[in-house]
Amino acid sequence: MARGRFNSKFAAVMAMAGSAVGLGNIWRFPYMVGEHGGAAFIIVYIACCLLVSLPIFFAESIIGKSTRTDTFGALETLAPKGRHVGYIAILASFIILSFYSVVGGWSFNYLIRSLGASFDGLGISEAKEVFASVGSSPVESVSCMLVFLGLTAMIVVAGVDKGIGRFSKISIPVLFVMVVIIAGVSLSLPGAEKGVEYLVRPDFGKLDGPAIAAALGQSFFSLSLGVGCILTYSSYMKEEDSVLQAGGWTALFDTLFAIIAGFAIMPAVFAAGIEPAAGPSLVFETLPVIFSRMGVVLPIIFFLAILIAALSSSISMLEVVVAWMVDRKGIARKYAVLIVFAAAAVLGGICATIPSVFGACDFISSNVLMMIGALGFALIVGWKMPREEVLSLVRSPFIYRLIRYVTPIMIIAIAVTNLL
Ligand code: PFF
Repeated sequence: MARGRFNSKFAAVMAMAGSAVGLGNIWRFPYMVGEHGGAAFIIVYIACCLLVSLPIFFAESIIGKSTRTDTFGALETLAPKGRHVGYIAILASFIILSFYSVVGGWSFNYLIRSLGASFDGLGISEAKEVFASVGSSPVESVSCMLVFLGLTAMIVVAGVDKGIGRFSKISIPVLFVMVVIIAGVSLSLPGAEKGVEYLVRPDFGKLDGPAIAAALGQSFFSLSLGVGCILTYSSYMKEEDSVLQAGGWTALFDTLFAIIAGFAIMPAVFAAGIEPAAGPSLVFETLPVIFSRMGVVLPIIFFLAILIAALSSSISMLEVVVAWMVDRKGIARKYAVLIVFAAAAVLGGICATIPSVFGACDFISSNVLMMIGALGFALIVGWKMPREEVLSLVRSPFIYRLIRYVTPIMIIAIAVTNLL
């Protein structure tokens, strides 16, 4: 059977941007910027993207486009001895899919609640109670997780272009418009300028080693590297579409989105006189309260945006595992989706009910498995593939040298820093 293919460059780029734009951009990036020196951190972040993460992106993309197969098959073709790294990347995708679906389920839950205007008049302490009750009710969190995973499966089962491509072409531009609207409202609030100052005032004194490691790690996670998503999507690119352009657009879109998300969130947080935070407490405790003070529509737009951002990432993780089953095992797409759905529902269900398992899945996948995957991809492109083949795709000896020498060292440096 013919493999799936994105029918346009726009679909391929939107799908990759969808994978990249996710919870990381919304609940981690704005806080990191504020804590690590504002505009100074943004400059370092962009440098990390350009010098380390983008070359890894190119490496994954080169592997996918030149082999035109799934993550495991690609590595088996290019470096038979390193093929097990393919399994590690696929496993990482599966694990991230499982715990990401729990958060996706919370977003779905909160979208329904905001449709019923249930945050109206709520204070922060009551919002904390709501979130605690959602998290501690197995029925509520598991059923919402299943809805989210089901939506992910429905998009993936429809196919590469008709499912993933079509969803991304529509939802990613809409997502962008939604955060711009929220940023507009947020910036117009009295007291918003304190939030802007928190984000942009450059403080080069805060740029210490941990801040630089954080920038690297964040740019890495944000571009969905090391788990085979970019590899798999690139294997569906049209022959004439350029790896360089796809990577450049994705990184630009991802960074721009993260910065605009910062302007959507921090000015509103400061205008409400609340201390900034990161992670679930920001999205599910602080922001519903702040946004519901501005009418019923803003919380709906916000949670719809979170849901779309999470879905466009989760479909890329599911596709990595499905592509392996379809290409390697000859399983029909619909059965492959069903099998992975069932397996992720089990692990996701465990993550939804046992917080320590959720934490362990997050830690192992982002700090260990993703790093091994990315290192494997960079080494294969830098040291195993013929130089001419790589250069025919990236057309720059400088990028080739970055992939060959700089990225492996930096990946090891981030991994060591994160594990210490
Ligand atoms: N890039 C996503 C984010 O910033 O939230 C996270 C992610 C997506 C990680 C897909 C890994 C992945 F395979």
